[in-house]
Amino acid sequence: MNKEPKLEESKNEERFCRTPDEPTIRIRDVHKSFGRTHVLRGVNLEVKCGQTMVVIGGSGTGKSVLLKCIIGLLRHDRGEILVDGQEISHLKEKEWNQLLRKFGMVFQRDALFDSITIWENVGFGLRQHTHLTDEEIKAIAVEKLKLVGLQGIEDRMPAELSGGMRKRVSLARAIAMDPSIILYDEPTTGLDPVMANVINELMVQMREKLEVTSIVITHDMESAYRIADQIAMLYKGEIIQVGTPEEIRNTSNEVVRQFVQGEVEGPITRGKDFGRVDLQPARRYS
Ligand SMILES: Nc1ncnc2c1ncn2[C@@H]1O[C@H](COP(=O)(O)OP(=O)(O)OP(=O)(O)O)[C@@H](O)[C@H]1O
Ligand SMILES: [Mg+2]
Repeated sequence: MNKEPKLEESKNEERFCRTPDEPTIRIRDVHKSFGRTHVLRGVNLEVKCGQTMVVIGGSGTGKSVLLKCIIGLLRHDRGEILVDGQEISHLKEKEWNQLLRKFGMVFQRDALFDSITIWENVGFGLRQHTHLTDEEIKAIAVEKLKLVGLQGIEDRMPAELSGGMRKRVSLARAIAMDPSIILYDEPTTGLDPVMANVINELMVQMREKLEVTSIVITHDMESAYRIADQIAMLYKGEIIQVGTPEEIRNTSNEVVRQFVQGEVEGPITRGKDFGRVDLQPARRYS
C-alpha cells in the first residue's frame, strides 16, 4: 500500500477563492430532454467556491447528464448554468476553451484513449493546452499517478489495467492540469475499500489544500458523508433537498431517507414491483 497522497499547497493565486460566498457554479431552472424523455425538469443548485457538493439520486435520474451539461458536453434546453458568473451557453469558442481549462472531469466510464500509453492519457490536456515538453508532461503524469496510488504503470497501455486502475488513471488525468473545478462522476465505483478511501482522502485534500470546487456523484453514502460540504438529491428531474451531511442523515424527507438508508419500502419504490419477485423453483431440463 502506498503512503497517503499528499498535495502541496497551491502557489497559483488564481486558484484561491477570493469571494468564498459567491457560487462558482450556479444552476437555475435547468431542463434537458432527449426526445420525449424529460430528464432534467428545472434543476436548481449552487456550489460555493472551494466547496464539495455531492449529488445523489437513483440510477437513470440524470446525474451524469447534469455534469455533462455543466461542462458543455451536452447543451441544456432551458435555464442557466453559470460558471464563475458566466453563462456557459453564451461563450464564444475561445472563452469557452479558457473556461474548460479550469475544469477536470472524472467520467463514469473512464473514457481513456486505448491507443496511447497511460502517461500520455494523463498528460493529454497538458499536451493540448501547454508548451511543456514530453519529458515535463511525463514527469507531471507520474506525480499525479502517484497521488492516486499508481506507480510504475506510466508506460503501460490502458488495456493492460484493471477497471479500478483505469478509474484512478482517469482521476489522475482530471487533476493533471491543476483545475480549480473538478466534476467527479462516481469516482470510487469499482474500487476496493482501501483504494476508495485513498480517493476520498484525495478529494478532501483537493478541497482543503487547493480550494478546489467540486461536484461529486456517488452512490456510496459513507463516501458522501465523509467528503461533502453539502449533499443534494436529484429525484424526478429536480433537486428535492440540499443539506449538510448531518441534515441529510437526519432528513425528514421520506424520499431522501429511503434513498440514503437504502430501504426497499418507501415512496421511491411504492407501486413498483422492486423487491417483490416471486421466485419459482428452477425448472430442470433433462
Ligand atoms: N446522449 C443521450 N441520448 C439519449 N438519452 C440519454 C443520453 N444520455 C442520457 N440519456 C438518458 O437520460 C437519462 C439519465 O441518464 P444519466 O446517465 O444522467 O443517469 P444517471 O443518473 O447518471 O444514472 P446512473 O446512476 O445509472 O449512472 C436516462 O434515461 C438516459 O437513458
Ligand atoms: Mg451516471
